[in-house]
Amino acid sequence: MTNSLKETIEAVRKSFLAALDSFPSDPHEIDALKSSYFGRKGELATLYAQMSSIAPEDRPNAGKAINTLKEECSRLFEEQEKKYITLDSSQADQLDYTLPGEVQRLGSRHPISKTLQEVKDIFTSVGFHIAYGPEIDDDYHNFTALNFPEHHPARDMQDTFFVEKDVVLRTHTSNVQIHLMENSEPPLRYIVPGRVYRNEAISFKSYCLFHQVEALVVDKNISFGDLKGTLEYFVKRVFGSSVTMRFRPSFFPFTEPSAEVDIWDEKKGQWLEILGCGMVDPAVFENVGYDPKVWHGYAFGLGIERIAMLKYGISDIRLFFQNDKRFLDQF
Ligand code: DAH
Repeated sequence: MTNSLKETIEAVRKSFLAALDSFPSDPHEIDALKSSYFGRKGELATLYAQMSSIAPEDRPNAGKAINTLKEECSRLFEEQEKKYITLDSSQADQLDYTLPGEVQRLGSRHPISKTLQEVKDIFTSVGFHIAYGPEIDDDYHNFTALNFPEHHPARDMQDTFFVEKDVVLRTHTSNVQIHLMENSEPPLRYIVPGRVYRNEAISFKSYCLFHQVEALVVDKNISFGDLKGTLEYFVKRVFGSSVTMRFRPSFFPFTEPSAEVDIWDEKKGQWLEILGCGMVDPAVFENVGYDPKVWHGYAFGLGIERIAMLKYGISDIRLFFQNDKRFLDQF
């Protein structure tokens, strides 16, 4: 073999190894590099072409030397190329495999919605219908028809949001008791879920907005025993049969007698009030044109935030309204 061909082979080997050292990542550049060595007009083809110009007896050795170089180069090139061929070559330069993955997050139900749904399910399963009523209402439905005396403190600007004179953001769902009785004849058996508003100083235990579920049952021969039985059943379904509860005598203008129900909060070692209740006051029946000698009824109003706080061990009512994902993700 002539020295000049040997040198040319060596030069091709060197330049190929140098090209491998800066092996491209762009798929077009990889292709270009490949054909510049292995293509029909590439460096190796040029070497083979030179065979015709050397002495015939030198050709076998020269051919061997070029074949060896070709095999070596092909192997090295394939090793480099393999690092890229698992990718779709058109994407290879666009994807950064070191970026963190994107987690697809599922939303979750708000704890107030969950609690509301549970309360609705329990009462509808024992024959209650669901009704809704206005959040903006007149003084008559929110107070007067419910037997609140003219100068009752609840009517004060301090406690109630007035939209205008005689129009309020309802302070409780009890306003819907009046709407229901005005619009339908007894017997009635309803629950009324909804938002209520109070002009109170905001703290861990009170907020300007919260949720109640009102209940109203009107029929003949309804007694306080029916009320107690229904509420005991409800409380056990929500908190489990080992719950500790108590009825505590109370006062509301629209019920007589009246009571509140407290649940023992094991964690905090204290009672927490969850609802007010009582037998519908005859004066309320008279306001809606029901004969109190024929019809009797009970009513109650549950605080949904209170129930959710007990159920989930939440100690600050404001958390329900802040939409902090760290809080909401836990439900
Ligand atoms: N409306 C009362 C409140 O918001 C709760 C209540 C008490 C509702 C007694 C009732 C009831 O239906 O009978 O504080």
